[in-house]
Amino acid sequence: MKILILGADGYLGWPTCLYFSQRGHEVVGIDNYFRRNATKELGSESLIPVPDLPQRVKIWEEITGKKIDVHIGDITDYEFLLNIFREFSPDAVIHYAEQPSAPYSMIDRDKAAFTLQNNLTSTLNIVYAVKETNPDCHIIKLGTMGEYGTPNIDIEEGWLEIEHKGRKDKFLFPRQAGSLYHTTKVQDTDMLWFYVRTWGLRVTDLMQGPVYGLSTEETDLDPQLMTIFNYDEVFGTVLNRFIVQAIAEYPLTIYGKGKQVRGFLNLKDTMQCAYLAATQPAKQGELRIFNQLTEPFSVNQLADKVKTVGDKLGYKVTLNSIENPRVEKEDHYYNVQYTGLLELGLEPHLLTDEILTGLFNIVSQYKDQINKKAIFKGIKWK
Ligand SMILES: NC(=O)c1ccc[n+]([C@@H]2O[C@H](COP(=O)([O-])OP(=O)(O)OC[C@H]3O[C@@H](n4cnc5c(N)ncnc54)[C@H](O)[C@@H]3O)[C@@H](O)[C@H]2O)c1
Repeated sequence: MKILILGADGYLGWPTCLYFSQRGHEVVGIDNYFRRNATKELGSESLIPVPDLPQRVKIWEEITGKKIDVHIGDITDYEFLLNIFREFSPDAVIHYAEQPSAPYSMIDRDKAAFTLQNNLTSTLNIVYAVKETNPDCHIIKLGTMGEYGTPNIDIEEGWLEIEHKGRKDKFLFPRQAGSLYHTTKVQDTDMLWFYVRTWGLRVTDLMQGPVYGLSTEETDLDPQLMTIFNYDEVFGTVLNRFIVQAIAEYPLTIYGKGKQVRGFLNLKDTMQCAYLAATQPAKQGELRIFNQLTEPFSVNQLADKVKTVGDKLGYKVTLNSIENPRVEKEDHYYNVQYTGLLELGLEPHLLTDEILTGLFNIVSQYKDQINKKAIFKGIKWK
């Protein structure tokens, strides 16, 4: 297959490029270095230094003999994106290239406006480029479990059948985002659903939970192939942050009661999910939605797991319940349906002590690079 990966320099995009390339697919990647620039501006760069994208693909080629083409540019520039679609004519496009941070979108009006413009325009441009060059191209879009929020009913896989005054219909599951970033993801889904209905595109929307981890079969081939790893409150996901905090002997930052539950997955499983979605595509005229998680945990459960393993490894891990900077329910019902990807063939890597120990072992090699000041600044929702 010919796969276009948008956001190829990112935490998920880079290992996805390698995953597809390793399996013999033709890969083209695009990135504009937004994440590198934003983290530099915030003083919280990747813990693990990563070469730039052209250097990374050169290293990949030297090690495996496999070639990945990359373009540095902004996909909100329609002509730039369209030209790549015209030249490459992908069978599938994987859209990771968004502003991915809830706290970043809540910093101020400008960051909110940027998030809105970047995320919605990028999705719109993909839709138009696909329609203009090859309407059969499968769009795989990264959504988030945060689109649903934390309703007091079971969360279904994308859709809800409703019976109202004796009549029935199927609707997108009600969404109640908890940040402006999550709101853009809801709007993306609405936009994709509109164009699927109107133009008959084929789309898979992956409602992904927070990802943790650093290791994939391909990135493990050489330290220079590792993915970007942020541990600050803005760009780091919670379990990755807790591991770094434990190693730095910085009390784990538990927001409020810590009873917030989310559905998590290992980086290796994100690779599998993207691959399963691409190789078993949605039908023409279908918006297919999967809830992309393998295990739900509360924040307290994660903190306890990190403490148990960290203490065994000789760290002095302490927990600190701090005033919640976010506006969110701290104690709520959470029951999610997530069978779609398992039915496609997903084989989950669950969060065992062994996996946590592996993560501790990799991160501890970069212990001296941890900048404690970058860990928590307290970006408030209001
Ligand atoms: N990491 C997670 O836990 C997680 C969970 C749920 C959903 N997601 C979603 O998955 C996607 C990827 O997440 P990630 O963690 O890899 O984030 P990331 O920031 O590491 O990756 C996104 C990449 O896209 C690039 N990018 C952003 N805007 C661009 C533009 N206009 N043009 C070109 N490149 C652009 C960035 O520079 C970055 O390298 C995002 O859409 C995110 O919302 C991530």
